Amino acid sequence: MTAHSGNGGDSTGIRVASVDDIPEGEGIAISSDITGTDDDIAILRKEDGTCWALNDTCTHETASLAEGWVEGDDVECPLHSSTFNLRTGKVDGLPATRDTVAHRVEVRDGEVYLFPGERP
Ligand code: FES
Repeated sequence: MTAHSGNGGDSTGIRVASVDDIPEGEGIAISSDITGTDDDIAILRKEDGTCWALNDTCTHETASLAEGWVEGDDVECPLHSSTFNLRTGKVDGLPATRDTVAHRVEVRDGEVYLFPGERP
């Protein structure tokens, strides 16, 4: 893989899924073994077909955000219903008080590519 000097990231990303593998309004978790990050990463698909990526572990306790639901521009945690903005990772709804980390995603030819550590 080749590094981009412009954005500090990889030019192609990591292919993690086909868009069709992710039901609309839901998510899948990608292991940190694949992403090379500290946490697993949740790939979340909005109903408009766009895909977004957040660290998978909710900052409130330890629920998987990939098991949550996409509501508008947020994902809702399945355990206590905290909401996080898909683009920024910011908390939009309690009880979580700490933001999570958002990562850049691209969809090319129906395949989802993840750029761990790059901001959307
Ligand atoms: S674990 Fe996510 S809101 Fe509590």
